[in-house]
Amino acid sequence: MNAKVKACAAAFAVAVGFGTSFAAGPVKPLTSVYNRNYRLLNGRWNYIVDQQLVGFRDYRCMELADGFFKDARQDGTTLVEYDFDKAPSMDVPGAWNCQVRELFYYEGAVWLRRVFDAKPDPDCRTILQFGAVNYEAHVYLNGQPLGSHVGGFTPFAFDVTDVLRNGRNSLVVLVDDSRRRDGVPADVFDWFNWGGITRDVMLVTVPDIYMSDAYIQTAKGDAGTLVGEVELSEAKAGERVAIAIPELSVFDDAETDERGVARFSIRAEPELWSPDSPRLYRVTFRHGDEKLEDDIGFRVVESVGRSILLNGDRIFLKGVCIHDEASGAKGRVKTQAEADELIARAKRLGCNFVRLAHYLHNEFTVRAAERAGLLVWSETPTYWMIDWGNPATYENAKAQMLDAIRRDRSRANVIIWSVANETPRCPERDEFLRKLIAEVRRADDTRLVSLAMELSRVSGNTVSVHDNLADAVDIVAFNEYIGWYRPMQEAAGTTWDIPYHKPVVVSEFGAGAKHGFYGDANTRFSEDMQAEVYRGNIPMIMGIKGISGMSPWVLSDFRSPRRNLDGVQDGFNRKGLTDEFGQEKRAFGVLRDFYAK
Ligand code: GCU
Repeated sequence: MNAKVKACAAAFAVAVGFGTSFAAGPVKPLTSVYNRNYRLLNGRWNYIVDQQLVGFRDYRCMELADGFFKDARQDGTTLVEYDFDKAPSMDVPGAWNCQVRELFYYEGAVWLRRVFDAKPDPDCRTILQFGAVNYEAHVYLNGQPLGSHVGGFTPFAFDVTDVLRNGRNSLVVLVDDSRRRDGVPADVFDWFNWGGITRDVMLVTVPDIYMSDAYIQTAKGDAGTLVGEVELSEAKAGERVAIAIPELSVFDDAETDERGVARFSIRAEPELWSPDSPRLYRVTFRHGDEKLEDDIGFRVVESVGRSILLNGDRIFLKGVCIHDEASGAKGRVKTQAEADELIARAKRLGCNFVRLAHYLHNEFTVRAAERAGLLVWSETPTYWMIDWGNPATYENAKAQMLDAIRRDRSRANVIIWSVANETPRCPERDEFLRKLIAEVRRADDTRLVSLAMELSRVSGNTVSVHDNLADAVDIVAFNEYIGWYRPMQEAAGTTWDIPYHKPVVVSEFGAGAKHGFYGDANTRFSEDMQAEVYRGNIPMIMGIKGISGMSPWVLSDFRSPRRNLDGVQDGFNRKGLTDEFGQEKRAFGVLRDFYAK
């Protein structure tokens, strides 16, 4: 939404605020939400495409007091120029691009409306939570504005207790997936801009004062100490909360401080989580009558010298990059089954690690990876050219990063928080990311921090990676495309100039290939050339001092509007080791054989 409309929106919110206070509003998203008392609002939602936001403002750009969010009816003399009941419908969750043919390339505003019956418990609160909406959402219940959210991949929530009716309710969401220069990501990125309510929508019933967050993980560098927190929905001191991990004979309690937060620090001897033994424990948090459970694994991850240590042992990250796109490129992963399919492909490769590029993936995927013994690199879409000098852009990136940490910080397999991908170096970029890295460490000092850097210089056979942020990260990671964007000859006899005493991860390398197209090592887009690029890069990479992992680009072909070679790309980035349906290419076998050794 452009600045002018934003002003309208802001004015609109104030206008409503002035007239009536928010009877409900934004709250912190509930963690471990699938283990709570929830009801899905998934299903068929009516939609109205609104290119000029006529449902939000009049021709003079004055905000409407009775916009589409009123979900009104044309009856008698009143002029109502919309009707959700007569409008078509689509599935939620689901991107409009892959559901409505005319909307495949549409980028802009769409109104989505769901009518549902409710019978709220007068003694409880009801939280409305969205898994993700790409990119900007304005949410209304029964004509009341609840608030808005920016960022296409992180969960957000509203307390709707005072607005939810006993009986029929009308939930209206204005979604705008317009790309924007000051966005995170900005307006240029190598993936498809799937627009819509792309993850689950749910009503969660919670007590009047509820546990909004509860997490526990091993302390930094100490497998025998478990530290965690329970955050209550109200800043109330002296509330007793309890934690139980029966299999570890852990039964502890603590009191909340004036922020309503209780901290735990518990000695225990858990069987540690690892790729070979992804052990999870049932953890139960209690506050009053409320019980919140989660299955949590415990492990210690460290960066020591040029090594990554998991539970004290050096580990090599045998990885692959994955985009959050369901098999067949039918939009974003929406279900556990779609998540499981991607994870199963990574397991068939012999991976112990996945780089979930370039934004927070569906919680189903992270948890499927955890159960399958796959370590995770989790990333915020601070991607390529970001509006580094814009404070609002920084706040946006920070919010998305902190929301990712909040959602997944109990996940044993998430070991790396990445703050950026391939961001061309400049002083503003360094300052922006250095601040962001500091924020990440304040929020979570138990995990490693990294970013995917660019190569800085290639001269002759020397390839350099110099980056001002190298001192601020735990792992020096970079993307290289020798053999695809750069001549393969540079791979032979390469000397690496990476002057940092830190573990190195090659966060991307690879080549494009159309599944079923064969040729030789020099035939672009043939499976043979892709396989040859892997055969050339792997030994070169393994020669890097401190090499501690790799995550080739990319597990499966994915849609991208930047790939327009008809008959070969057809709107897909073809660097997948499988095609978009999971059919393996020859390079899949090259990488699998290497990982098996
Ligand atoms: C970049 C980028 C990816 C992109 C890939 C490519 O490194 O990180 O998002 O898809 O290269 O060019 O295929």
